[in-house]
Formats: sequence, structure tokens, C-alpha cells
Amino acid sequence: MDLYEHQARELFEEHGIVVPRAEVTDSPKEAREIARRFGGRVVVKAQVKTGGRGKAGGVRLAADPASAELTARQILGMDIKGHTVGKVMLAQPVDIESEFYVSYVLDRAAGRFLAIASAEGGMEIEEVAASRPEAVARIHIDPFEGVTSAKANEIAEAAGLPAQTADVLVRLWEVLVREDAVLVEVNPLVRTVQGQILALDGKVTLDDNARFRQARWGAEGVEHDDPLEAAAAAKGLNYVKLDGEVGIIGNGAGLVMSTLDVVAGCGARPANFLDIGGGASAQIMADGLAVILSDPAVRSVFVNVFGGITACDAVAEGIVQALDSVQLTKPLVVRLDGNNAARGRAILDERAHPLLQQATTMDGAAGRAAQLATSG
Ligand SMILES: Nc1ncnc2c1ncn2[C@@H]1O[C@H](COP(=O)(O)OP(=O)(O)OP(=O)(O)O)[C@@H](O)[C@H]1O
Ligand SMILES: [Mg+2]
Repeated sequence: MDLYEHQARELFEEHGIVVPRAEVTDSPKEAREIARRFGGRVVVKAQVKTGGRGKAGGVRLAADPASAELTARQILGMDIKGHTVGKVMLAQPVDIESEFYVSYVLDRAAGRFLAIASAEGGMEIEEVAASRPEAVARIHIDPFEGVTSAKANEIAEAAGLPAQTADVLVRLWEVLVREDAVLVEVNPLVRTVQGQILALDGKVTLDDNARFRQARWGAEGVEHDDPLEAAAAAKGLNYVKLDGEVGIIGNGAGLVMSTLDVVAGCGARPANFLDIGGGASAQIMADGLAVILSDPAVRSVFVNVFGGITACDAVAEGIVQALDSVQLTKPLVVRLDGNNAARGRAILDERAHPLLQQATTMDGAAGRAAQLATSG
């Protein structure tokens, strides 16, 4: 779960990282009020869970309260990479001398955390990392030792950051650990003309496994960027929206992952990841189908089930019952294999739905679903 910038800012502040004074609003009129309270000039920042806001025109300096209102009006409702801006944060401007980049990310492959830091922070950090990797320091952190002040000094030195930033590096580690985050990023961390170190922008991704401990973020925190993902999450489905046209339902994350690959190998693009898990009850099948069918990009649906403890006949019954409650509007290709596959197939044959067809192999079914999705 990603947090909004203003939520990340709140966490930084709680852990003693200096941040600019800021307030959030969804009202241009209130933006004017806030700017007035802040002394006139403010930076108006779109609150969306995606990067590159600045380049998209979602971060703008307003010189006075009237232009803060106007700027807020322009930014609210704006679309940034498919995310609609619902709120803006108004931050007090600071006089920047230099911009740095610092982050901690979970490096699963190494079984450690990775500190990434650069003295060339700001909006071009991706380009710096690509064109001059030597300007970006990468230092592993032992999760049990964490970022001690010695480690923080090592990171700052390797990245060429001023020694003063070591304190922020220690506190940022505390944010990661105490708040159950798997990523914390500050870009830019700045030194002001007055010599102060401030975090001007923050990104925090919380560990979803710790969600039960993160109730404070409530509905806003768990908000999904995609409305279908939100609908699926509300029904307890393990669903991720993708960009393609073949809707996919499978049992078991591994099988679903390989189904995505096989569909892609057949020349079509998967529209989603949806793992219905071991149960595969009629209700789950109906909920899953309903979510997938409501995605306008979907042109065919592929149900790929390998019967194990949940046998194929139970899954087939689930599909049949789901067809009673969900109106099938797109072709459905079903492949049942494993425990009780023959009985399962017979149940579907008996139902004889005109939009439902079966295939005996995963490749065959994927090919059929891909063909249905890509042919006119
Ligand atoms: N409070 C502020 N005072 C002065 N300048 C600011 C302030 N906040 C942001 N800026 C300037 O605007 C730039 C972009 O801001 P920010 O990093 O928040 O957005 P972004 O990087 O474009 O967004 P994202 O991180 O989502 O890609 C910063 O690099 C900084 O130069
Ligand atoms: Mg930024």
C-alpha cells in the first residue's frame, strides 16, 4: 500500500525529520486561505500515488493567495498518468541550495535492505541513475543492525551528501521499521540556503502484511488507485488490473502467473491477475467473473483451474452457479485439469452456455482465449 505524499510527510515529521509546513485540501477557496496563513507564497502539489507530478504540471509555485486558489483549481481534477487529482497539498516554499536523493528499499533477492543515495537528487534522478550510475551510492543494510549513525555516515559519504544528512538517514530508517514500510524515499532531500536539511517530497510504501497494524490510514490509506481493484479488494479477491484484453482467473498464484505468460506467448495481453485460491466456491467464481467482465478492456475470459484438494467438479459447479448470477457478456474459455477433471468438464458440457467453451490443455485454452480477444 502506497501512502500519499502528505501522509509520508506526516510520518517523517513524527520521526523528527524536518519538513516544510503544509496542509491538504480539496477546495480551491481553502487553498487561498491556507496560502494567506502561510504568508502568501506556496507550492501547490497534486496528491496522487504516482511519480513525475512535477513534470506533469502537478507541482507549481503560487506567488500569492489568489494565484494559490487559481493553481489549486487547475491542479484539482487533473489527470496524471491515469490518476485523478482529488487533493492538493500546499507547502511553504523553501530556498533550495542543493537537492539530494535518499531511499531505503527492501532487496528481496539479497535478503537485506538497500540504501540508495545521491547528491544529485530532484526530478531527474532516474536519468542520473541510468546515465551515470556512479553518482548513485548503493549500500546494503543488515536488517538486524539497521542504520546506526556509523552506517548513516557511510551512506552519506559514499553518496557525497553533507554530513548533516546522517541524522535524517537514521530517522528515515526508524520510519521504515516503526511504520512497517518496505520502501521510504525522499526526493528531494534538500539543503536550504540557510543550511537546514529538509525533506520536500516523500514516498512511503507500507508492507501489506502489516495492514492490521496500520489501521490509522483507514479508508484513505487502503484506497486503491484502480476502481476495479477496489471493488475486488472489497470482495476479498486477490486481483491486480493489467493492461491487456484477456481476463484471467486461476487457482493458485503460481498457476495464474504462468497463465499470464502463456497468454502473452499466444500474442495477447492479460487484462488482470486473479487468483481465486483453493476454495473456488460459486460465490468467489461469481465475484471474480463480475469484476473481470466489468473491465471494458476485457474481450475474452480464460478460467484456468488445476483441481487439487478442491476438485474440478466443485469448480465446475461454481462456474455454473456463477453463470446464474452474473450475465456472461464475453466469451469464456475454461480449462479444467487435475482431480475430477472429467466430471467437471461434463458438468460444463451439460450447462451448454453459448459463450462458454472448454479446452483440455492450458496452451490450447490460452490460444483460444487469445484468438477470441484479438480477432474482430
Ligand atoms: N516546498 C518546496 N519549496 C521549494 N521547492 C519545492 C518545494 N517542494 C517541491 N519543490 C521543488 O519542486 C520539485 C518537484 O517537487 P516534488 O519532488 O515534490 O515533485 P516530483 O518529484 O515531480 O513528484 P514525484 O516525486 O511524484 O515524481 C522539487 O525537486 C523541488 O525543486
Ligand atoms: Mg520528488
